[in-house]
Amino acid sequence: MGKKGKISHQSNKVSHVLAIETSCDDTSVAIVDSSGLVLAMKSQNQDLIHGPFGGIIPELASRNHTMQVLPLMDEVFKTASFGWEKIDAIAVTYTPGLLGSLLVGLTVAKTLSVLHKKPLIGVNHLEGHLYAPFLKDNKFNLNSTWDEPFLGLCVSGGHTSLVRVDKFRKIKTLGRTLDDAAGEAFDKFGKVLGLGYPAGKKMDELAKKGNVKAFNFPRPLIKSNDFNFSFSGLKTAGMLKFKELENKINGDVLNDLCASYQEAIVDVLSSKVQKAVKKTRIKKVVVTGGVAANSALRERLRDYLFPPPYYCADNAAMIGFVGAKKFEQCKIDGIKLKVAATTKNAEIKS
Ligand code: KG4
Ligand code: ZN
Repeated sequence: MGKKGKISHQSNKVSHVLAIETSCDDTSVAIVDSSGLVLAMKSQNQDLIHGPFGGIIPELASRNHTMQVLPLMDEVFKTASFGWEKIDAIAVTYTPGLLGSLLVGLTVAKTLSVLHKKPLIGVNHLEGHLYAPFLKDNKFNLNSTWDEPFLGLCVSGGHTSLVRVDKFRKIKTLGRTLDDAAGEAFDKFGKVLGLGYPAGKKMDELAKKGNVKAFNFPRPLIKSNDFNFSFSGLKTAGMLKFKELENKINGDVLNDLCASYQEAIVDVLSSKVQKAVKKTRIKKVVVTGGVAANSALRERLRDYLFPPPYYCADNAAMIGFVGAKKFEQCKIDGIKLKVAATTKNAEIKS
């Protein structure tokens, strides 16, 4: 294992990285190579654990990561049919996320790094999401090279950012949410509607049977001259509409509420993307993060690059891919790496 930036490897060789993702409530382990090929990935979400509370309980999240991560790793090695001798480096999410959750992944990664004498590489979770469309496996291959520059809309339960990637590790945030994330807007309104937690997927399903024009929800900041987002006003409008209709909400009304509310989110997200394409003249756009699984958003932005839903959600494959690329550039962190719940101004620091 070398010091920061001091490691040599054969540049013509494909590198294999073992990756660990535990930034929020999904535990995920993967083995990925530097071409983006996912050799094995095993993930476990904690929806059943947090669902009854209507949101993530950080202590429960970290406790469950502790229990899940090593069994998942055993499964990953079994699937890949090889052992540590073929692993060149370990990649782990170190920011942003829940501190306790990040700490579980980092502690495991550090221990394995020392034990197996493998270099340790920290990966920014959002940078991972941005490269998810370029992963490949036996079911998915966009066959699109990740030649920068490209724009990235990263929409999840905790983040909503529109960024410009000028080259690998050079990411500029064009705009971000000023309050709630897009996924949070789905989850919080969905909770009021009794759809459980997280509610995005369920709202997406119900919306397919509803009328997008039934209710006129606000489209916050849609006309603003910047690339920022705001979803808390929309969430409040949803809640007020729910109170107004409370006794009259039958199946059709519920579907209409989901469709109209979802349409407002899709309108705002897609209009900012189109505006950014126009302004930057960069036509290649990736849409990623849990909300990128939304069928209406996928349909509206169909000209752009989406990962399949299982790489939209939090996963270790995307962390491994960025980790492998960093490894090839000799960007090694070593065991002094620390976790960070956030980065300044939500910039995606590689
Ligand atoms: O990226 P992710 O798995 O975790 C975070 O980093 O937050 O995103 C989870 C978010 C949740 O808010 C969930 O409701 C939302 O993604 N989500 C969806 C859909 N599937 C998941 N939102 C809208 N439509 C979907 N189909
Ligand atoms: Zn995420």
